[in-house]
Amino acid sequence: MAVSYKNLGLVNTNEMFKKAMEGKYAVPAYNFNNMEQIQAIILACLETQSPVILQVSSGARKYADQTLLSYMGQGAVEMMKTHAKEKGLKEIPIALHLDHGDTFELCKSCVDTGFSSIMIDGSHLPYDENVELTKKVVEYCHQFDVTVEGELGVLAGIEDEVVAEKSTYTKPEEVVDFVKRTGVDSLAISIGTSHGANKFKPEQCTKNAEGVYIPPELRFDILAEIEKQIPGFFIVLHGSSSVPMEAVNIINENGGALKDSVGIPEEQLRKATQYNVCKVNIDSDGRLWMTAAIRKHFNDKPGDFDPRKYLGPARVALIEMYKHKNENVLGSAGNV
Ligand code: G3H
Ligand code: 13P
Ligand code: ZN
Repeated sequence: MAVSYKNLGLVNTNEMFKKAMEGKYAVPAYNFNNMEQIQAIILACLETQSPVILQVSSGARKYADQTLLSYMGQGAVEMMKTHAKEKGLKEIPIALHLDHGDTFELCKSCVDTGFSSIMIDGSHLPYDENVELTKKVVEYCHQFDVTVEGELGVLAGIEDEVVAEKSTYTKPEEVVDFVKRTGVDSLAISIGTSHGANKFKPEQCTKNAEGVYIPPELRFDILAEIEKQIPGFFIVLHGSSSVPMEAVNIINENGGALKDSVGIPEEQLRKATQYNVCKVNIDSDGRLWMTAAIRKHFNDKPGDFDPRKYLGPARVALIEMYKHKNENVLGSAGNV
């Protein structure tokens, strides 16, 4: 039996994007794979009164179990409502989104199990095949009021199971045709961001006085040109972790071996929200802070073996990070 997201208390992304566009901020799309991550996302977004997109990759869906996942989405909504009541806060809108869907069947299965938003990523396909696949997904999703994100241009790095060696920026001259022919609700673009904790090679960066890599600027000229082509259309930025050195250093001081880590500076993300960027995807920063907290915990207390002892502090670190993003980077705080 198919489950509708509407019966789970979730919402699609239409209203949240409209408000974000008007208010010049971006809605956070945070990936999760387990209970502590989803708890941290919900608590941080409720406390900062931010709308949120809970994001699930196909890998996460396999890891967490697709049936459990719909219940986790519903559980997140119910938990948010209980905490909102207890704390006298307004309820926040929550969307459950498939990140980097790669087949029609996967997208359909997510819609049928309660997702309210779908990304179909045909960006690695030849243009016409991307159009065809995206259109098919849109036709299915729109019957159920599920919103769809498409992608044009390829990000460097690892896109779920798709590996792109080099980034190919989105071609502004293609966006009008793509949006018209597919009927997508939002568009992910490539302007220099990429997935993971090594977004740029050291030789692409300069170094500041503390020896921290400073990456090249994102291609705001391409973003501006895209905006000119499709005014008022919702734009999505993937690969937008900032890879904070504080987390990387804690990891490396506690037995880790991360090398040449570099992310997207926060000022550049703030600048992107002043364009039509309404959704910003962040996964790696959560992975880094969680790993940092757990590594530090085991170094400080090697005798602990109760998962609550080390996952609890990891959850606290995540809550702090998500609050910081909403308040100081994306500007989504206080917008419900
Ligand atoms: O864009 C990719 C996301 O960070 C998800 O990564 O496929 O390892 O779950 P994953
Ligand atoms: P990061 O790897 O920069 O966190 O990007 C995540 C992402 O784009 C998920 O779709
Ligand atoms: Zn992505």
